[in-house]
Amino acid sequence: MRTILNGKSIVLGVTGSIAAFKAADLASKLTQAGAAVDVVLTRSAQEFVGVATFAGLTHRPVSTGLYESNSELGIDHVVLARRADLVLIAPATANILAKLALGVTDDVLTATVLAGSQPLVIAPAMDAGMYGSPATQANVETLRGRGVHFIGPESGRLASGLVGQGRMTEVPGIIGHLRAVLGRNGDLAGRRVVVSAGGTEEAIDPVRVLTNRSSGKMGYAIAEAARDRGADVTLISAPSALPSPPCVTLATVGSALEMRDAVQSACAGSDLLIMAAAVSDYRPANPADQKIKKTGDDSLIIELVQNPDIVAGVTGDRLVKVAFAAETNNIIENADAKLLAKGVDLIVANDITAEHSGFGTDTNAVTFVYPDREPEQMPLMDKFDVGNALLDRVLPLLN
Ligand SMILES: Cc1cc2nc3c(=O)[nH]c(=O)nc-3n(C[C@H](O)[C@H](O)[C@H](O)COP(=O)(O)O)c2cc1C
Repeated sequence: MRTILNGKSIVLGVTGSIAAFKAADLASKLTQAGAAVDVVLTRSAQEFVGVATFAGLTHRPVSTGLYESNSELGIDHVVLARRADLVLIAPATANILAKLALGVTDDVLTATVLAGSQPLVIAPAMDAGMYGSPATQANVETLRGRGVHFIGPESGRLASGLVGQGRMTEVPGIIGHLRAVLGRNGDLAGRRVVVSAGGTEEAIDPVRVLTNRSSGKMGYAIAEAARDRGADVTLISAPSALPSPPCVTLATVGSALEMRDAVQSACAGSDLLIMAAAVSDYRPANPADQKIKKTGDDSLIIELVQNPDIVAGVTGDRLVKVAFAAETNNIIENADAKLLAKGVDLIVANDITAEHSGFGTDTNAVTFVYPDREPEQMPLMDKFDVGNALLDRVLPLLN
């Protein structure tokens, strides 16, 4: 899986916070994603974490002081400022926020920020009192006003043992934000995309539901792929164990009827709807108010009624519609029939019986079925790559 981080040059500034240990994981994950990560440690950061850790994880020299230029970089801050696609400071102390707001340049990190013009992303970490102080808040506002992107801080347990706002956002959240910032001028910039995901739940009684095996992985991967290409993404998710993707608007729903309402309202003014959710075709006609008790009978009959076809019912002036069709047999014939019945621009047919494909897996082998040309069978791919392949095919329809 290649994300927008692949091949990017990122300066990772680490400052003197107790959360500095998390920056090692961040440096590792960014490097694994194919980014060239140049770590800059402030003097205080070196009290918490060491050069060897970051040099080992990134396979690159680490900058520590303005007058300790390492031989490969020359004048570190100027070289770093020139080549970086993005500067990330994580964790960021109250002190660095104050220095950046004032334009102080007494170390490599502040000098790099001042010398460069690339996006600056900051993940603060500090005691809640420090974060809430008028001085820090004013500095955050000043930096925001200059276009700096802030990630967090989150509320929760702080290193001091107190609970409050000041925890650094966890590494996956920071990486999702970076991808959104790097992709903001992508080929879907300015487009509004609605994606549905997960398996709906139809109540039988207050305890039981009728559902399916969808994990939500396909829809979540599409949402992330569209976000990384600059789209404004709304993800409408039936219950899923997956974490909320950063920089995506998430609406959670339960039943097919709830999903229909959420999809319809999100589609107003949108450019693209991708229905990757597994929506229950039927729902219990009369869900019980109370838990259904076991009786002496051997069988229990639950009457089902058909749910509306969500994608067929959504209309919009310029809305391009894509539906997934999970099938176990006659894949293409069934997809062709759905193409007509649902009035969609493209069907993504999915043989859920194929190995490493379908529900719960990280990979998928799909066939794109078009109204006006031969189906296109794709190889087994990571679900994120399937999402990008789908968006590549949808893009010409948007124009
Ligand atoms: C154990 C310890 C933990 C600290 N944690 C934080 C922190 O999480 N956030 C913060 O803003 N300052 C924290 N500080 C204070 C900073 O290290 C101090 O303000 C320092 O001057 C920051 O320098 P820098 O911004 O150049 O890295 C901590 C200090 C100590 C001794």
